[in-house]
Amino acid sequence: MKLLVCGGAGFIGSTFARRRLLEHGDEVTVLDKLTYAGREENFRDFAEDPGFRFVRGAIEDPEAVAQAIAAGSVEAIVNFAAETHVDRSIAEPDAFVKTHALGTYVLLEAAREHDLRYVQVSTDEVYGSIAEGTFTEESPLRPSSPYSATKTGADLLVESYFHTFGLQATICRGSNNYGPRQYPEKLIPLMILNALHGDPLPVYGDGMQVRNWIHASDFASAIGEVLEHGASGEVYNAGGPDEEPNMTVVRRIIELTGASESQIEHVADRPGHDRRYSLSSAKVRALGWEPQVRFEEGLAETVAWYRENEWWWAPIRSGGYRAYYERQYGRALG
Ligand code: NAD
Ligand code: TYD
Repeated sequence: MKLLVCGGAGFIGSTFARRRLLEHGDEVTVLDKLTYAGREENFRDFAEDPGFRFVRGAIEDPEAVAQAIAAGSVEAIVNFAAETHVDRSIAEPDAFVKTHALGTYVLLEAAREHDLRYVQVSTDEVYGSIAEGTFTEESPLRPSSPYSATKTGADLLVESYFHTFGLQATICRGSNNYGPRQYPEKLIPLMILNALHGDPLPVYGDGMQVRNWIHASDFASAIGEVLEHGASGEVYNAGGPDEEPNMTVVRRIIELTGASESQIEHVADRPGHDRRYSLSSAKVRALGWEPQVRFEEGLAETVAWYRENEWWWAPIRSGGYRAYYERQYGRALG
């Protein structure tokens, strides 16, 4: 297949692009604006592959989108491009509205014009928080943060293009991802790098919030399954095999890095913090998908990857991320 992977310079988009290029023999054109989270380092290992092409541009820019579609003779769009950090959506929601609402609209118009298949990459956060049980695709949409609310808006727009225009569109909603190349503003890489540097480990509130962890390679394979075999107009949830409270995750990272429990610091809770996410994956499993990575082994591999790939994170930790960290946590990184 000839794919346009929007947001392919980010954590999950680059994992998906690598997999489709190297394991499925697809041609991949990445369209990415290269925000603070988008990095060419993420496709350094396959940048020279003859099936790969990179176009720098925004999804909300119709000319950049048209150029990328033409450059790659594209047959399908998979849209990962997004602002993805809940804390940033609380501090500065503007870019979330622009990218998720306007950007998704521009891509849908392009898909319609060129008669392309379309996959929207989405999140379990559109369902909000669940105290007990697990969300299915039929669960009501009750997003709580500007991040999840704008992602929900994008999902609804995608569904409207299926119903109104017959666009061949599907949506794949993942649970919390982890793995190599995740920007260190997110819980797991933040805690790994702080643990390795002797910095405090900032746990929001009581740390008993539960997340349903999926390795990015498993989410990428679920999205591939939905792209190839999903029915138009349908939503498919892809949840990981394990749910853990944040404190358990932080304690495992302490064990794996040899850090000290005394580094744990309970800090002010996130406003509107969702207590628990849990996602049923029965529908995507029926397409033949199974997650391959259990959290315990995936986390150990992820810690090892960050230990071995200082070239990847050192420029982040010494750059603009320091200022972000100070704003968010009210203290400097060590
Ligand atoms: P990320 O922040 O690592 O990457 C996002 C990428 O999108 C970056 O390369 C960025 O430069 C690019 N981008 C942002 N705005 C853009 C724009 N306007 N035009 C073009 N490119 C733009 O995010 P990620 O964790 O890889 O998430 C990818 C997708 O998966 C997102 O849609 C996110 O909502 C979804 N998702 C993420 C998780 C998770 O736990 N990380 C879970 C479920 C779903
Ligand atoms: P995060 O990685 O931001 O993902 P999301 O908010 O999309 O689930 O956060 C995962 C969990 O970890 C969430 O409950 C918030 C918590 N958290 C902390 O306790 N401390 C931190 O410094 C961060 C970034 C997150």
